[in-house]
Amino acid sequence: MTIILGIESTAHTFGVGVVRNGKIIANKNKTYTTKAGGIIPMESAKHHCENKHEIYFEALDDAGIKEKDIDAIAFSQGPGLAPCLIEGMKFAKELVTKLKKPIVSVNHCIAHLEIGRLTKASDPVMLYVSGANTQIIAYESGKYRIFGETLDIGVGNFIDNFARYAGIGFPGGPTIEKLAKKGKNYIELPYKVKGMDIALSGILTNLKQKLEKIGKLNPAPPTQKLPAHLCSQIDKKQLMKNARNGIKSVNSSKKFRAKRGKNDREYTLSDLAYSMQETVFAMLVETAERALAHTGKKELLLGGGVACNSRLQEMCKIMCKERGAKLFVPEKQFLQDNGAMVAYTGEILFNNRDYIKSEDIDNVDIVPRQRTDQVEIKYK
Ligand SMILES: Nc1ncnc2c1ncn2[C@@H]1O[C@H](COP(=O)(O)OP(=O)(O)OP(=O)(O)O)[C@@H](O)[C@H]1O
Ligand SMILES: [Mg+2]
Repeated sequence: MTIILGIESTAHTFGVGVVRNGKIIANKNKTYTTKAGGIIPMESAKHHCENKHEIYFEALDDAGIKEKDIDAIAFSQGPGLAPCLIEGMKFAKELVTKLKKPIVSVNHCIAHLEIGRLTKASDPVMLYVSGANTQIIAYESGKYRIFGETLDIGVGNFIDNFARYAGIGFPGGPTIEKLAKKGKNYIELPYKVKGMDIALSGILTNLKQKLEKIGKLNPAPPTQKLPAHLCSQIDKKQLMKNARNGIKSVNSSKKFRAKRGKNDREYTLSDLAYSMQETVFAMLVETAERALAHTGKKELLLGGGVACNSRLQEMCKIMCKERGAKLFVPEKQFLQDNGAMVAYTGEILFNNRDYIKSEDIDNVDIVPRQRTDQVEIKYK
């Protein structure tokens, strides 16, 4: 019997999961959020530091185990925000030193993928849609290969950015999904698919222009205090104006009604949210379908926080049905960042003897820019 504890800390979520023989027996997570603006890495790291002990002991309680029962500590090594990764690694090393158990380094993206095994998918193409990452991945000759990906920003960050400009805090995805359900008019947006890759930054610019048109572009608040030498280059008047205006409520669709101009259609923020989802999710579905056709695989697995979106799930379901493939969607708690997926992947690696003994922990470090296809998969 093996018991592996997994620590997740790559970005906004600090999580601890426990796995016993392939079964999740605890999954405790706490997420850093903001009322307006995006993630401030140092603030998120502080959040992790302040909550780590509470989450850890809650996870042990939920699992019904004592510290001494743990066989190894797994942690997310990368990719992610360095200050956040460091908090997770420091905590993992603290436990390893205290418990004299091995440490297992886990790639965060592969953890999102491996947890999909719980759905019983056996050899899927994975549509991995999260904050920083948007990749279409499938296993081929010793590695998880990236068949397609975003050429600029991750789809979650793209949605959060759009939300931020509309005055919605982090994470923006769930609020945008709610607004999209109220949208009635489809507003045409650029559609950017290049083979199995997609590009999102042009669509973001287009959306910002449309927000401006309806008079509600919310200037992004400065996310970090800038060094003095940079402050002088900033339009101070604009900053003061932003501060005075504060962040405005976005729920009233009336407020966002555009004035009818010569060439303008009337649309609301809800219409924009709806149009954004229809356009961007169609791009994702198209590239995922192309990867299914190219690899000849018959399973599509969803992963990452954006996969919580019910419209994206619905569109994937329709595509899979049309081409005789099967769609697998993990439970919501395993789609977003979570400790359980790190423990689960950690157990696979541990059983494959892919770990480092406690006396050698100085050889363990974070890898903030580690890519899915850099990791050798020795257990398949
Ligand atoms: N219902 C939803 N619709 C759309 N997006 C959503 C929804 N729920 C969450 N998201 C988005 O999911 C993202 C967070 O997902 P996740 O926790 O997997 O990502 P991450 O860890 O930030 O990124 P990565 O895995 O690339 O490091 C956020 O951008 C959030 O807005
Ligand atoms: Mg993630």
